[in-house]
Amino acid sequence: MGSAAHPGPEVRPGGPAVFHRKGWRTHALVTPDEARVLPDHHGVPAHTYLGLLGGTGLTAYVALTRTVRLQPGESVFVSAAAGAVGSAAGQFARLLGAGRVVGSAGSPAKVRRLTGEWGFDAAFDYHDGPVGDLLAEAAPDGIDAYLDNVGGDHLEGAIRGLREFGRIAWIGAIAQYHSTRPPAAPRNLFDIVGKSLRLEGVLVRNHRDAQGELEDFLVPHLQAGRVRDVQTVAHGFDGAVDAFLGMLRGANTGKMLVRVTAEQP
Ligand SMILES: NC(=O)c1ccc[n+]([C@@H]2O[C@H](COP(=O)([O-])OP(=O)(O)OC[C@H]3O[C@@H](n4cnc5c(N)ncnc54)[C@H](OP(=O)(O)O)[C@@H]3O)[C@@H](O)[C@H]2O)c1
Repeated sequence: MGSAAHPGPEVRPGGPAVFHRKGWRTHALVTPDEARVLPDHHGVPAHTYLGLLGGTGLTAYVALTRTVRLQPGESVFVSAAAGAVGSAAGQFARLLGAGRVVGSAGSPAKVRRLTGEWGFDAAFDYHDGPVGDLLAEAAPDGIDAYLDNVGGDHLEGAIRGLREFGRIAWIGAIAQYHSTRPPAAPRNLFDIVGKSLRLEGVLVRNHRDAQGELEDFLVPHLQAGRVRDVQTVAHGFDGAVDAFLGMLRGANTGKMLVRVTAEQP
């Protein structure tokens, strides 16, 4: 984000906050179509547009509403549930009327926050055993939908736990991003046929048209305090690499942000 840039010789400081993709910098010269002026919703800080009202929230929202098309009362499983997309997805699923919301995460502390703070009905630490077994305990009646941020053993476990005609939104595969070997799982891909499942990839850039719909849905919930904007904030450009690597290994809960100025929003 930055300040609005004005064409011509006079560049005024201040003005409305805008979102642009010119990278991290103190100043950016952008054309009008390269910058989005952020709406000023009462009580919603601008940094929310980097998380819940940005690509993160949009990914979670379209995965639920367009890809798995979650219906009220359905059970949904979310992996990397204490992360940015995951914590948004679990909270949105609850607000969209999901029946049972189950999440997986990488530490007991994160698991406690999922059920204690973010409204998940059940959660497990995926280090505690095979994901399929842990999911079967957390959702004994099976699941209708799975939002996959992890791939690999999580996808395998979810395929096992999905009921007939279940749906998978494949968002990411963080378990395999830094592996040089092909993933060992899922070994049960053909069960997609046996159970008449549907697996569909989600790429947020193909759903930018849903931004207004996301804001209509989410802003009232944010203003009423029904959604938590979960963030982990690193400070300064010098911390950026550590923040990114930390995100990959689970140092974050919610959205990992880097604040490049000392000022509070
Ligand atoms: N398709 C799209 O358009 C789109 C858009 C945004 C993001 N994504 C994808 O969505 C996923 C989540 O992204 P994010 O930005 O929200 O990141 P994030 O979930 O905030 O951070 C990544 C989390 O992944 C977990 N993790 C790391 N290695 C793991 C492993 N081997 N098994 C299980 N969990 C592991 C860590 O949490 P734990 O402590 O729980 O392990 C870490 O906090 C990523 O795969 C990303 O590429 C896709």
